[in-house]
Amino acid sequence: MGSVQQPKKQLILNAFAMQSPCHLNPGLHRYPNDQGANYKSLKHWVSLAQKLEAAKFHAIFFADVLGGYDVYKGPANLDPTIPAGAQFPINDPLYSIPAMAAATESIGFGVTASTTYDAPYALARRFSTVDHLSNGRVGWNIVTSYLDSAARNFGLNTQVEHDERYRIADEYLSVAYQLWEGSWRDGAVNTKENDRVAGYADPKAVRQINHEGKYFNVPGPHLCEPSLQRTPFLLQAGTSTAGKAFAAKHAEAIFLHGQKPELIRPSVDSVRQQAKDLGRDSAGIKVIAGMLVIVAETDEAAHAKFAQLAEYGDREGALALFGGWSGYDLSQYEDDQDFRFVEQPAIRSMVTHWASTVPGTEGQKWDKKTIAEYLRMGGNGAKVIGSAQTVADELERWVEVGDVDGFNLSYASVPETFDDIIQYLIPELQRRGLFHTDYAVKGGTFRENMYEVEGHRRLPASHPGAKYVWREGEKVPKYALDEAK
Ligand SMILES: Cc1cc2nc3c(=O)[nH]c(=O)nc-3n(C[C@H](O)[C@H](O)[C@H](O)COP(=O)(O)O)c2cc1C
Repeated sequence: MGSVQQPKKQLILNAFAMQSPCHLNPGLHRYPNDQGANYKSLKHWVSLAQKLEAAKFHAIFFADVLGGYDVYKGPANLDPTIPAGAQFPINDPLYSIPAMAAATESIGFGVTASTTYDAPYALARRFSTVDHLSNGRVGWNIVTSYLDSAARNFGLNTQVEHDERYRIADEYLSVAYQLWEGSWRDGAVNTKENDRVAGYADPKAVRQINHEGKYFNVPGPHLCEPSLQRTPFLLQAGTSTAGKAFAAKHAEAIFLHGQKPELIRPSVDSVRQQAKDLGRDSAGIKVIAGMLVIVAETDEAAHAKFAQLAEYGDREGALALFGGWSGYDLSQYEDDQDFRFVEQPAIRSMVTHWASTVPGTEGQKWDKKTIAEYLRMGGNGAKVIGSAQTVADELERWVEVGDVDGFNLSYASVPETFDDIIQYLIPELQRRGLFHTDYAVKGGTFRENMYEVEGHRRLPASHPGAKYVWREGEKVPKYALDEAK
């Protein structure tokens, strides 16, 4: 009896970028082919978006930070960061999205924005604006931020405590949902064809949300009329207990970084289980792993390419990134100090973890040089180097073992890393039936293309934000009636 061939899970592929000379590749702006320094140019981003859309990438995803990496050799010292172009200087990614959207039709745009430093009323307006201007192709990567330098510049002495940031974020999201879903009734805006004579929109279909909470008071109404998705597609990357609980409640896609699929699997299972416990469709949550892929014609050529690129990696910049991510200044340790054995428990546990998981480092001393060399390309994510066959095999293993749905592909050099992926890897993935040859919904919204269902523009019914929807025929949204009871 022949077994029935199950269709393979279709991978989600995003390009992982930042509007800075270097993202997870400190120093690579010095590599002759690198165009990272063109981050200020709309042409640079538009041409990248067009190239990625032609290759059918689901989205370009922009990371963002609101301060410099100034912990290493600090306090408040950017000297090691600036020459490396290590996520500094950095522009606000949101402004470039409408230009990229105007030059493309289906690719999505994920944009990072913080719930710690941005008022929900303003953020909701900005995302609605860009959702309108992109025909529903914007996603929000919700972050709570981690840099002390950001806190200082936003008028705080130090960061708001970690779990408190997530409590604020939770109320923030409820304000945003009320603005996006519950402030304008479905059908509130008249069209010329039906009833514009009656006015632009029905004033009875636009309401104040009158949110009064612990952290925010927002009367509303939402300044923007409803966009195609209303709530932008929601992405989140948190690895702590509070972060995972937040993701399980709010995220439609989660990002994870890890060396091996075996190691991220428990986090994936935990988020899916927590989402299920909240009544959400947990299988529908997209899990996307961060990864650097260096692919070439053969394994040898790919390794040679990686070695060539690595020469441009800036070790000081890499240690500066480590300082910002972890809050620890490694300059306070001797150069030959092996960090697997330091007293500081957070550093010791991080480095011991790397020592036992990073391929090719067995038996190696984990001193500053090793850490810097490890972090100079691809950050803390897995690095997969090889021919298209080797890389595709590894991606399949990640899907099977890690239960991931796709990958956020970072670059060692922009756009060269993507050019290689497009030339070598994507055809191989398509041959294996692992990657689509066209968008599920051409010209569709971010959400339609992530869920591969035409018409799936709004939050899924089981998402907690969906309870705020104000449906046609309702005098006020149901949630408001329930709250008034
Ligand atoms: C793959 C990945 C991408 C991230 N991108 C950003 C980012 O662009 N900006 C940011 O402020 N934080 C970013 N973060 C940090 C997380 O959003 C989160 O704030 C951080 O991991 C601390 O939360 P946690 O303690 O729950 O992990 C990222 C984390 C991961 C794993």
